[in-house]
Amino acid sequence: MFIKQEINRITSEYFEDNLDYQKLYAASKELKYILNEISGLEMDDEDGRADIQFHDGKALGTFWAAQCLDDLIRTRQFLRGIDKAIKEKIKKNVPLHILYAGTGPFATLILPFILRYSKHELKYTLLEINPLSIKILGRIISKLGLEEYNIKLLKEDATKYQIGNEIPDIIISETMQNALAKEQQVSIFHNLMSQVKFSSLFIPEKIEIFIGLRMTGIPIEELQKEHYHKEKKIFELSKEAIGKVIKITHFSREELTFPRIQTVIEKERVNGFNQIVLITEIQVYKDEKIQINDSGLTTPITIINVSDCHKDTIIVNTQYKLSNEPKLEFEIASPNPI
Ligand SMILES: C[S@@+](CC[C@H](N)C(=O)[O-])C[C@H]1O[C@@H](n2cnc3c(N)ncnc32)[C@H](O)[C@@H]1O
Repeated sequence: MFIKQEINRITSEYFEDNLDYQKLYAASKELKYILNEISGLEMDDEDGRADIQFHDGKALGTFWAAQCLDDLIRTRQFLRGIDKAIKEKIKKNVPLHILYAGTGPFATLILPFILRYSKHELKYTLLEINPLSIKILGRIISKLGLEEYNIKLLKEDATKYQIGNEIPDIIISETMQNALAKEQQVSIFHNLMSQVKFSSLFIPEKIEIFIGLRMTGIPIEELQKEHYHKEKKIFELSKEAIGKVIKITHFSREELTFPRIQTVIEKERVNGFNQIVLITEIQVYKDEKIQINDSGLTTPITIINVSDCHKDTIIVNTQYKLSNEPKLEFEIASPNPI
């Protein structure tokens, strides 16, 4: 079918080792155009833009979930990481089982692989909670004639989904914002990690949040990763890190509490820096990473401005808290006004 070949041609840009922003931009526009056309459903309206609030955070409205495709480096790095993981884990006689939690309307992070592999090589469990997103994805699957593939598309809440006996080889979810605020990545990974222990590979492999410092005097549009300095890691979402929390809390979801961390920044450290920030970094898979300012997911968040004449040690207390608005909570303790 011509349209599948077209999607393969367009998405091949994400796998090019040489990063060309203009080509990537064009690919993302073209892909979105095709997917919008074949879905035939409107998402840029009140319903499509409405986020859905849950106990553990929000699920993005369909229009916004579709927009994630345009976060170019995010999409590129995820696709490249997933590509590597599939190539490493693929088996000879049984299909590799991929669970994708939070597909959005386009199943952006898995569609290129559905079209590149046979049903004997890969099988999929796709979870999505937003009814409009799932309706659109259902139409795309049917219009592309993907029913012949081994795809289970389920309207399920991934924070509660029970995996059962068919343990996935790879579990993918991108349900996050910078500093893991507002969306449900932590609850989703916690639920899935506590069921599979160490047998499945999670993508992203690791999400880290640091307390950092931003250099003085660099205009916003010129800020690069080297203008930030990481002071201390204050949160990690990975199988290993969640494994430790699960042990402490005896597998009880309600008790999932993360440690309160204190970061002490001596006054000498602040010289040449004018902001204390939260830095997010994502290791998608092995060397496929999303670093500071590569994506909206890794844009630093300012905690506090620090004046040049600041003369005291600054203490930042932080704790990641789950709620209907999950976030990294922080509090500044300093003997004198900053
Ligand atoms: C940030 S969007 C990403 C969309 C797509 N995966 C991508 O990467 O382009 C997250 C998606 O996850 C869905 N989602 C959020 N929480 C969910 C949950 N608890 N269970 C299932 N899906 C969820 C949202 O509805 C949204 O479609």
